[in-house]
Amino acid sequence: MRKHIKNNVSWVGWIDWELESFHGDDYSIFNGSSQNAYLIEEEKTVLVDTVWTPHRFDFVENLKKEIDLGKIDYIIANHGECDHSGSLTALMAEIPDTPIYCTPAAVKSLEGQYGKHGWNFRTVKTGDTLDIGNGKQLVFVDMKMLHWPDSMATYMTGDNILFSNDAFGQHFAVGELFNDKADQCLLWKEALKYYTNILNPFSALVAKKLTELEGMNLDIDIIAPSHGAIWRDSPMQIVKKYAEWSDAYQENQITVVYDTMWEGTAKLAHAIAQEVHLQSPDTVVKVLSIAKTDKNEIMTEVFKSRAIAVGSPTCCNSYLSSVAGWLEFLKQLKFKNKKAAAFGCYGWSGESVKLLQAKLAEAGFDVAEEHVRSLWNPEEDDFAAIPALVKSLLQ
Ligand code: FEO
Repeated sequence: MRKHIKNNVSWVGWIDWELESFHGDDYSIFNGSSQNAYLIEEEKTVLVDTVWTPHRFDFVENLKKEIDLGKIDYIIANHGECDHSGSLTALMAEIPDTPIYCTPAAVKSLEGQYGKHGWNFRTVKTGDTLDIGNGKQLVFVDMKMLHWPDSMATYMTGDNILFSNDAFGQHFAVGELFNDKADQCLLWKEALKYYTNILNPFSALVAKKLTELEGMNLDIDIIAPSHGAIWRDSPMQIVKKYAEWSDAYQENQITVVYDTMWEGTAKLAHAIAQEVHLQSPDTVVKVLSIAKTDKNEIMTEVFKSRAIAVGSPTCCNSYLSSVAGWLEFLKQLKFKNKKAAAFGCYGWSGESVKLLQAKLAEAGFDVAEEHVRSLWNPEEDDFAAIPALVKSLLQ
């Protein structure tokens, strides 16, 4: 069912209320999500993006209830990932000759995923325009690596809507569609989680792209992303946030993350958190178990932090396997401008702390020499090393 956005522009997407994970199981979903597709009905009729593959037949049937598919003049494929392109096969079976506007890289990703069907691709680059009648145009903006090589955004003149695709989105089901109607706490929580886990590795490119967009002097009344709430109330607030988030973001927070076998490393984690409050009462402290806490949520806390302390006992000459996987994900997200320290218990060989320090350095953290390496359960001497570790993180 269509929902009105502005003038002759409607939302024709799909809300996934029950979705629990995304990108396989790599991204946790706790508040639903959506794939936003849009229908523009000016003198020309334009479909902007589609929805995820599992919904493709329902999507096409729903669209048929709104419009004669034969009336669609142009399809815009802002991005080739299957959550936005996954209905193309079902749609193109009905209207095989309709031109698809996309980047050259999207031709590769679409044909790579769906095969070569002889679809009528029209490749575009930044600044290319498409006249849609009634004095309005679509202006294409390359959004390479935000977050795929094929990503682009489409700006509609006259109505001043930026169809930004993944950029500025959130995995968040908002039935009311608009940012001013959404639960504000969840909206910002999900926007931050989305940025951290999807866009942070590309922060340098985000910053560059924001400058480029600013230089295009587009009047933007609405930012319509492909997931979550549509920004119609002060849309530039999310652009401003992206500028902050892409600039080595940190708040006055220290996050302590750990896994433990027999609670020794957990005791150190709690003692570190207590010491942070002693030395810096205004610093927010969070303690999170890697084994028990969702990894995407932990990374969002890491993103907010000025420093982290990571703990693991030694197990089989290394850190725990839960910590190993977590550290690999930490490295992938390419955090900048953050300190880190390591701690952990051991009984025999005790390699975990040194290995943690090496892995944290490899992940781009400024690693403190100060550490806590506790033989068996932590005792007075071990706890005595914590103030120096915390002082180093707070410096
Ligand atoms: Fe990159 Fe929402 O797909």
